[in-house]
Amino acid sequence: MSNLQPDDQRKPSILILDFGSQYSELIARRVRETEVFSLVMSYQTPAEELLRIAPKGIILSGGPSSVYDVGAPVCDPSIWNLGIPILGVCYGMQLMVQQLGGRVEPAIGKAEYGKAPLLVDDPKQLLINVESGSTMWMSHGDSVQSLPNGFVRLAHTLNTSEAAIADHQRHLYGVQFHPEVVHSEHGMALIRNFVYHICTCEPDWTTSTFVEEAIGNVREQVGDKKVLLALSGGVDSSTLAFLLNKAIGNQLTCMFIDQGFMRKGEPEFLMNFFDQKFHINVEYINARERFISKLKGVIDPEEKRKIIGAEFIRVFEEESIRLGPFDYLAQGTLYPDVIESAGTNVDPQTGERVAVKIKSHHNVGGLPKDLQFKLVEPLRRLFKDEVRKVGQSLGLPDEIVRRHPFPGPGLAIRILGEVTNQKLNCLRDADLIVREEIQNSGLYHNVWQAFAVLLPVCSVGVMGDKRTYAWPIVLRCVSSEDGMTADWSRLPYDLLECISNRIVNEVEGVNRVIYDITSKPPGTIEWE
Ligand code: XMP
Repeated sequence: MSNLQPDDQRKPSILILDFGSQYSELIARRVRETEVFSLVMSYQTPAEELLRIAPKGIILSGGPSSVYDVGAPVCDPSIWNLGIPILGVCYGMQLMVQQLGGRVEPAIGKAEYGKAPLLVDDPKQLLINVESGSTMWMSHGDSVQSLPNGFVRLAHTLNTSEAAIADHQRHLYGVQFHPEVVHSEHGMALIRNFVYHICTCEPDWTTSTFVEEAIGNVREQVGDKKVLLALSGGVDSSTLAFLLNKAIGNQLTCMFIDQGFMRKGEPEFLMNFFDQKFHINVEYINARERFISKLKGVIDPEEKRKIIGAEFIRVFEEESIRLGPFDYLAQGTLYPDVIESAGTNVDPQTGERVAVKIKSHHNVGGLPKDLQFKLVEPLRRLFKDEVRKVGQSLGLPDEIVRRHPFPGPGLAIRILGEVTNQKLNCLRDADLIVREEIQNSGLYHNVWQAFAVLLPVCSVGVMGDKRTYAWPIVLRCVSSEDGMTADWSRLPYDLLECISNRIVNEVEGVNRVIYDITSKPPGTIEWE
């Protein structure tokens, strides 16, 4: 099974064969940072298919298994003889060694997890500009005890005698460490060496080549037919709207469904921006009453999400019929979604699909699979950071391209308990103050998210000479790399004070502000 679809026009220069490492996608991103296109495929991809795709190089990822485990993942043994340069990373290197006649054993007492200085023995080819003594990130319980015929050592560490190896004749390379992670000081130099010196790739994966190709592909796919796009104002759908507008102009209709759970001023901002300023055809659908009435009396967060998701689909279907007919539906699907839903790997023992990584989003507002549209998904090969660059190059401002993540169900999941218009108004006002103050402090881009949550309990306070009995607002501000783990942000006390004062003084119905100092895990970022 592969997740390289026949519709893909562009072949990858570097293919990553995924053995279940949490870093497989990261390797692909790092290769693309060198302006070389890469894709992730299953470790089970047959050598024949690899030949058909004809990448200039292959990288074998790490993985959680041991090569001598029963049922450990194994690639097609013919790949060593294809003549395509191969770099094995961690498990990938151990597999290479084991399959080619070397020996891998548990590194008893010498397992390495974390940073280790790499001592370079041969500073050529793979290790050009990789400083001897610099840090590389290790994570292995096994190590190579003897090399297969034809291999030589390129580097070692204090605990690992074969930390980087090569068979120059066959263009096979292996590293015991993870050059792709940020903690590996010269990891990018190593990746660049493999990509350029060893595989002789050309730097042709740039934002402008992507935009040019994507526009051509969309025009070819869509012809003179009509396309519908559900615009949310997030980075992905906004970038898609700009890209499609450039490709097919007024054949594109965007639908913006206002479910009433957006931040203060957001619907006006979006309509003004897309429709008025850039003359992109956006149909504004005011569905506020429909959504809030469906949530009457609903307290359970999962039920809220389901109701909002189902209502979104209903509104979308009705409106697409009213505005249509449309032939195509444009979706802002990104590459991590493609990898996740395809699942690059199959468990050799159970035959079941194995997820590449833990799911990064629990999105609602997704569209049903059985809608009668053909799909246009020009961003399906991009990572999030690449989408941002494309958005920027198409003229989207930082205000959209670098905005914080915002959940599909919006403020409805930031009000605990029943959602009412009164609570929504209150939370919107508090949220605006948080946004304004974080932006004024210059810290907006230093944090992952900063927002307000409304708790449906009252506590006593005093304002002027009067006793108050009102809701608290929780201030949640976290730093994170990807939303999977997070830490609470150490905001300056003066900023916290300013936010708290403004909320209590300016927001009707609130008499207390609380700062959430829980990391994730064990907390989540949203409260729900
Ligand atoms: P949690 O609360 O699970 O959130 O720690 C992790 C990240 O995901 C965002 N989030 C969502 N994003 N649709 C989205 O696109 C959703 O339904 C959704 N729910 C949570 C959340 O804001 C955080 O950045």
